Amino acid sequence: MEDKLKELQQRKEIVLKGGGDDRIASQHEKGKLTARERLEQFLDAGSFVELGAFVQTGLEDASTLDIPYPGEGVVTGYGNVGGRLVYVFAQDFTVAGGSLGEMHASKICRVMDLAAQNGAPFIGLNDSGGARIQEGVMSLDGYGNIFYRNTIYSGVIPQISVILGPCAGGAVYSPALTDFVLMLDKTSYMFITGPQVIKAVTGEEVTPEKLGGASTHNETSGVAHFKAENEQDCLEKLKKLLSFLPQNNLDDPPAVPPAEPQLSQEELLQLVPADPNRPYDVVEIIKRVVDNSDFFQVHEHYAKNAVVGFARINGQAVGIIANQARFLAGCLDINSSDKIARFVRVCDCFNIPLITFVDVPGYLPGVNQEYGGIIRHGAKILYAYSEATVPQISVILRKAYGGAYLAMNARSLGADFAFAWPTAEIAVMGPEGATNIIFRRDIEKAENPEEERKKKVEEYRERYANPFITAARGWIDDVIDPRHTRGHLIRALESLKSKFEERPRKKHGNIPV
Ligand code: HXC
Repeated sequence: MEDKLKELQQRKEIVLKGGGDDRIASQHEKGKLTARERLEQFLDAGSFVELGAFVQTGLEDASTLDIPYPGEGVVTGYGNVGGRLVYVFAQDFTVAGGSLGEMHASKICRVMDLAAQNGAPFIGLNDSGGARIQEGVMSLDGYGNIFYRNTIYSGVIPQISVILGPCAGGAVYSPALTDFVLMLDKTSYMFITGPQVIKAVTGEEVTPEKLGGASTHNETSGVAHFKAENEQDCLEKLKKLLSFLPQNNLDDPPAVPPAEPQLSQEELLQLVPADPNRPYDVVEIIKRVVDNSDFFQVHEHYAKNAVVGFARINGQAVGIIANQARFLAGCLDINSSDKIARFVRVCDCFNIPLITFVDVPGYLPGVNQEYGGIIRHGAKILYAYSEATVPQISVILRKAYGGAYLAMNARSLGADFAFAWPTAEIAVMGPEGATNIIFRRDIEKAENPEEERKKKVEEYRERYANPFITAARGWIDDVIDPRHTRGHLIRALESLKSKFEERPRKKHGNIPV
C-alpha cells in the first residue's frame, strides 16, 4: 500500500507542476497567474474539487510516470463562488501553451455536462494557443464537441468566458458562443488567426494588441463585454457579474437586502435638459433610481449610444437598457441594436426583469447604415423585446420617435407597464422633420418663413409630441413625477412577480441574425 500511495503522490505532484518550474516562472514573468493560482483566487477558499487530474492522451504512457502533457493542459472541476456552485475549467498555458487536444476537450465537455445536469453556471478561464497542432483533426473534433454543448446549454445555464492570455484559432469560438466574455487589458488576445498569417495572406501589418486586444474587442468588434485592468480586477468583475445571475433558467437571480440610491432622487428634476437637443448622461439617471446607485455596465465601451447593464431595485436584480443622448444623440444604429438585442435576450433567458429608459430620436439614417443592414440589425431589437416574457417596464424620459419608440419596448412590443416623464415627446417623427412636411405650405406662405417654422415646431410639440396623447390611448400607463420613478418601478416589479406568459409552441424562433 505504501508503494501505491507513493506513486499516487508522485503522480499528483507531476500534475500540480503542469509544464514545470521554468514555464511557471515564464508565465509569472508575463504578469500572468497559473491555472491553479487563478482557480484559487476566483473560488471560495478550499472549495475547489478537481476532476480528471490524471486524464491523458497516450494510454501507452499511462502506466509510467512519463506524462507528456500533465493534466492535458487544463484544470477542471467545481467549486463555490460566494457560496454558490459553479463548474470551471482553467487552461494551463505551461502545458503545450494550453493547446486543446482530444482529451483536453473531453475534460472540458465533462464539466459542461455536469454544469447543465446540476443547473450551475459554467465558467472557462481561457489561456490557449488553440488546436493542439500535433493532434490534428482530433483537436478539431474536440472543439466541435465543445461548441455543440455551448449551444445546447445556451439559455439553460449561464456560460461565462474569461480570456486571460492568447486565445487563437478554434479557441475563440467557444467564448463567442457563451453569454459573456471578459478580457484582460494588454495581456489577452482573441483572433481567428494571428498577425503573421494575416501578413502572409493579405499583406496587412498589425500588432496582436490592435488586432485582437481587450480594447479592440470591447470598443470596436463588440466580441467582449468587459475589460479588466489586471487579473484581480477581472476576477472581481466576474464575481459581480455572477451575483446578478441565477444558477440556471429555472431559478431566480439571488435577491439581496434592499438599499436606497446613494444619489439624490430630487436631482432627477434637473438632469434632463429642457432643450430637447442638448445631451446629458443617462447613467446619472439610472444611478438615482437603483439600489446603492450601483449600476454594473455590460458592453460599456461598445456602441456607447446605448447603455445596458445590471442593477438592483429593492434588492431584486434587473437588466437596464437605455439610450445615451451623449453619443449620436442616442440614435439606434447597427451596433447598438446588436448590443441591446443580445442583452435583452440574456436577461430573458435568466429571468431578469427588463427596465428600459427611453430617449431616442430614431434609427440612425445614412447610406452606411443602410448598406450595413440597419434594417436587419434594428429588427433584432423588435424581435428580442417581443420574444421576452420576463417582467418589462419602460420609462420614457424625453424623445420617443417613430420606429425607435416601438423598438425601445413600447407596450405593443410587450412592455407590461410604460411610464412617461412630463418631458416625454412621443410621436411618429421628430418636430423638425414633421413640421417641414405637414406645415410646409404654411411655412412657404409666411412673411418670415424661418420664424414661422420655429412657431410650427413648437406647435407640433404641443399638439402631437406630448405624453398625454399616448396616455389618452392607454399606451402609457401613467405620466409620473421623475422623483417618483423608483417608487413606481418597485411597485410595478412587485405586481409582476408571478408573471407567466405562454407562447405558441414552436421549435425555435428565427431572429434575424
Ligand atoms: C501545440 C502549442 C500551440 C498549439 C503553442 N504551443 N500553441 N503547441 N499546439 N496550437 C506551445 C509552443 O510550442 C510552446 O511549447 C508553448 O506552447 C508556448 O508557446 P510560445 O509560442 O512559446 O508562447 P508565446 O510566445 O507566448 O506565444 C503564444 C501563442 C503562439 C501566440 C499562442 O504559441 C501561437 O501563435 N501559437 C499558435 C496559435 C495558432 O495559430 N493556433 C491555431 C491553431 S488552429 P514549449 O514546449 O516551447 O513550451 C485552430 C483551428 C481550430 O485552432 C478551428 C476549430 C473551429
